[in-house]
Amino acid sequence: MTTSTIQNLMKQMTLDEKIAQLLQLAGPFFKGSSEQGHITGPMAAMPISDEHIKNAGSVLGVSGAAEVISIQSTHLENNRLGIPLLFMADIVHGYKTIFPVPLAIACSWDPELAQKSAEIAAKEAAVSGVHVTFAPMVDLVRDPRWGRVMESTGEDSYLNQVFAKAFVRGFQGPDLANDPQSVAACVKHFAAYGAAEAGRDYNTVDLSERQLREFYLPAYKAALNEGCEMVMTAFNTVDGIPATGNEKLMRSLLRDEWGFDGILISDWGAVKELIPHGVAEDDKEAALKAIKAGVDIEMMTACYVQHLAELVSEGEIEEAIIDEAVLRILTLKDKLRLFEKPNRGVDVELEQQVVGHQDHLQVSKELATKSCVLLKNDHHILPLNKNKNIALIGPFVDSGDILGPWSALGLKEEAVTLKQAFEKHLPIEQLNIVTGCHVETISSQQLEEAVHAASSADVIIVAVGEDSEMSGEAGCRTNIQLPAPQLELLKALATCGKPIITILFNGRPLDLHGVLEYSDAILEAWYPGSEGGSAIVDLLYGIAIPSGKLTMSFPVNVGQVPVYYNHFNTGRPKGAPDAQERYVSQYLDAPNDPMFPFGFGLSYTQFSYSDLELTSTQLTTDTEITATVNVSNVGSFTGEEIVQFYIQDLVGEVVRPMKELKSFQSITLEPGDTKQVTFTITEQQLRYHHADFSFKSDKGSFILYAGTNSIDVLSHSFQLISQGRN
Ligand code: NOJ
Repeated sequence: MTTSTIQNLMKQMTLDEKIAQLLQLAGPFFKGSSEQGHITGPMAAMPISDEHIKNAGSVLGVSGAAEVISIQSTHLENNRLGIPLLFMADIVHGYKTIFPVPLAIACSWDPELAQKSAEIAAKEAAVSGVHVTFAPMVDLVRDPRWGRVMESTGEDSYLNQVFAKAFVRGFQGPDLANDPQSVAACVKHFAAYGAAEAGRDYNTVDLSERQLREFYLPAYKAALNEGCEMVMTAFNTVDGIPATGNEKLMRSLLRDEWGFDGILISDWGAVKELIPHGVAEDDKEAALKAIKAGVDIEMMTACYVQHLAELVSEGEIEEAIIDEAVLRILTLKDKLRLFEKPNRGVDVELEQQVVGHQDHLQVSKELATKSCVLLKNDHHILPLNKNKNIALIGPFVDSGDILGPWSALGLKEEAVTLKQAFEKHLPIEQLNIVTGCHVETISSQQLEEAVHAASSADVIIVAVGEDSEMSGEAGCRTNIQLPAPQLELLKALATCGKPIITILFNGRPLDLHGVLEYSDAILEAWYPGSEGGSAIVDLLYGIAIPSGKLTMSFPVNVGQVPVYYNHFNTGRPKGAPDAQERYVSQYLDAPNDPMFPFGFGLSYTQFSYSDLELTSTQLTTDTEITATVNVSNVGSFTGEEIVQFYIQDLVGEVVRPMKELKSFQSITLEPGDTKQVTFTITEQQLRYHHADFSFKSDKGSFILYAGTNSIDVLSHSFQLISQGRN
């Protein structure tokens, strides 16, 4: 269709039909759905009529080829103008083949593999009828109390941009319009949902414009620059106004400044939530504020369909503002060719072949292997020798709850558990498997059995963590240690005098008190996805070598939170040569540094960094500096190292972070080998928002750091001698 054909279609639409396009409802509302009429809880109270449903623009949370075809065809029979529905769903890290959670994916520092995972997710979802995925989630996160950190790629703005782009490329592919195996992406949650105060979900966000622009906004922008079709509003306030009714954020910034002309959708119920937020008196005012802010689709509340027509007739809003939203929605439908092929990509037979395909599981395993982070490995206890007798203990040993809270169609019963993977790998007589405790309870009998099993083994492997309900949406915790029964189990096992290897399954950086003391080795496995068990066994036995690095700091304790690598120095930095003992920025009872910093992760081999050199120590707007560093494998395994480059601007007009990640490279080295890794420094990389928000660099002194994580680095200074600006 051309724009004029869409406009002609719009001319035939009544105002009510147009407004209904802005409504998004869950599957059970629709005729043709296998769940039709199963409307319970708050959904049942929604003032939605048959007329609204007949004319609704989109549906969420439905998939499955037969189901989608049934809903779409029934809808088309009933919709006067034959306007197809858009099907949207949360395909966050896999559809049926579940990949590790995004925080884990980020720890692979492998955007290509991340892109591949999104491509596969799109392929499986599209053949099952999904047109739009509510992903990627690119909220920058610094507070592990917040349950949704596992949906993010971590605390660093640069890395978040890299992954935002990779996910959008993967979901949408190079030709969204013509490739029915791709899905449109919807970046979320705009904006700064990850900065919820005190890590409590849906809580207030209050950031300076500088923090927003410098750290939080770039990843959303990166997704849009990559062509991301949609944006979802955040639940939180931004500068005192809920994002969903925030004109400054949505109109002035997103639309006018950034030029975004795709669809803006509210998060679930967020339009009506303007009332409890305290910026709207009732549904009508909520509708008014949201439409004025530029929200095109209202997800799962009925303020628009109930009140927009009235607001037009009262002259509170122009009909043009509704037309604008409808045009955007119809334009996406048209772009996806839904008017010609309302069943775009969806195919009952193909679905059977594509969804959960063996090749997809293989990629999931590869990604899980690269996402696990080895946090501790005393006395090189890992990798294990195959001759050892193993006691496999803990609530996650035979648990399929390793997919994470967003696992669409992934079934826990089908996930490869540690037990299954071990049984494939070792003769049964070398394995003694007991539960030890549940996630949050323990009995004396369980404890006894565990100690008994551990006493006769050579090595104890303990699989502990948080169940998937303990993180994710509304999954916040103030105590981010392992649940007490699991710590009790570890403590008891430590009395057996055998080496303990702890595997952690969880969705957030944890306070590892108790775990660190009692474990000889710790492997952070996150929620590793469908093939988790096999990936972990490969790592434990050295069939694969750990290479993952943290993208979110692990605090010493919850009192340090938020603790992140790119903080400021303060006027009284701890450890400065002239620092006083007391009056410096520090805690009396804990260090300032986290337990494990951003970028940290061990391998079975060791890497040594040397000879950080620059081709020049003077940079101008027209020149580049080439930095080189030698990285050697001085251990005895072939290993992959993620070489990280950071820069610090020593004196800015505005205070600059202690370090900012600017580049990284992954290299594989055989024992004894050395590779020279190169990084090109340009003046553009040194630009930031100045006091007046102009984006430019500062002349003066900088430090380049190269290293294996954000703390263990080599450094070299250089000067910028001419200033550049956008
Ligand atoms: C609420 C969540 O915040 C959002 O991420 C999700 O996409 C929607 N629900 C739809 O399920």
